[in-house]
Amino acid sequence: MVLLLEVCEILSTFALQLSISDKFTKMKNVSVIGAGTMGNGIAHVFAQHGYNVTLIDISQAQLDKAIATISKNLDRMVSKDIITTAVKEETLRRIHTNTSIPDGVKNASLIVEAATENADLKLKIFQQMDEAAPEGCILSTNTSSISIAKMASVTKRPEAVIGMHFMNPVPVMKLVEIITSDATSREVTDAIVDTSKDLGKVPCVVKDFPGFIANRILMPMINEAIISLQEGVSGVKEIDAIMKLGMAHPMGPLQLADLIGLDVCHSILNVLYEGFNNPKYAPSPLLTELVQSGKLGVKTGEGFYKYTPGSKELIVSDRFK
Ligand SMILES: NC(=O)c1ccc[n+]([C@@H]2O[C@H](COP(=O)([O-])OP(=O)(O)OC[C@H]3O[C@@H](n4cnc5c(N)ncnc54)[C@H](O)[C@@H]3O)[C@@H](O)[C@H]2O)c1
Repeated sequence: MVLLLEVCEILSTFALQLSISDKFTKMKNVSVIGAGTMGNGIAHVFAQHGYNVTLIDISQAQLDKAIATISKNLDRMVSKDIITTAVKEETLRRIHTNTSIPDGVKNASLIVEAATENADLKLKIFQQMDEAAPEGCILSTNTSSISIAKMASVTKRPEAVIGMHFMNPVPVMKLVEIITSDATSREVTDAIVDTSKDLGKVPCVVKDFPGFIANRILMPMINEAIISLQEGVSGVKEIDAIMKLGMAHPMGPLQLADLIGLDVCHSILNVLYEGFNNPKYAPSPLLTELVQSGKLGVKTGEGFYKYTPGSKELIVSDRFK
């Protein structure tokens, strides 16, 4: 009898899990908050894989720029025979834009928050998401370093809060680092693992520690490259060439910092510095100075290199020549 009861209990738990995962696998409405470097790529990938996407930003100009970028990136995929023109058009049709979070998330089954890397801002956005999103909606964040538990703590659904850390450029990079807090439920983790696979990505689940894994390892390397430049040990091109040719990295650390955004690198290093209370993570004075002077890398047209729209040539910024 006891055995029979146990079997029934296992079967009903299994049925419950099936219905939960069934509910999550049907999620087709995704809202992406923040239409910057990452938001446009995340919207692109979801839409290309059949999800209806609402892309949200406070700036209409940023939304227009994001749609133009997605269209250009889809054109490149068509010219390389990766997708057809019909897929490009269908992908663009699936993306809608909105400048209001409450309006833009009201039908979402999954939200991916990809706004500026600032803890206070993200906490405010998570409160708004929690208030406006339907019951059962998963609240995820693309944060590079900020605590998932902290964001979960301002919501009434901590079990449904999770990190979904895409890599830049999102349509190309395979990894999604998935970050679970102690409160994140198993069903939500499984649903996000399955969704990442559905996007053609490879998910890796990690725990909620400052910088998680990717940036805990990457950012000290980038910071050290900037410190070496600042100390005059070598030049921009040489530092990048040494890491490319010597370590088989596809891109040098200074070029990568420009691509990520120097402000983003600066914020992540500060999260590591404060999170571990260890000065080895403190952003270098040169990085701080570049951020303060608005030289943020690719997105502002200058960082360690200068960028001209339409040109792929890497020209070292005048300051470092
Ligand atoms: N850049 C990278 O390589 C990279 C890689 C992985 C993860 N991330 C993370 O992704 C997130 C976004 O980074 P990014 O590089 O795309 O930044 P970004 O500066 O390019 O874009 C941020 C966008 O957020 C918008 N925004 C700001 N406040 C908002 C609000 N209240 N509501 C809606 N939109 C708002 C801004 O207008 C801007 O368009 C950050 O958490 C960052 O750490 C970045």
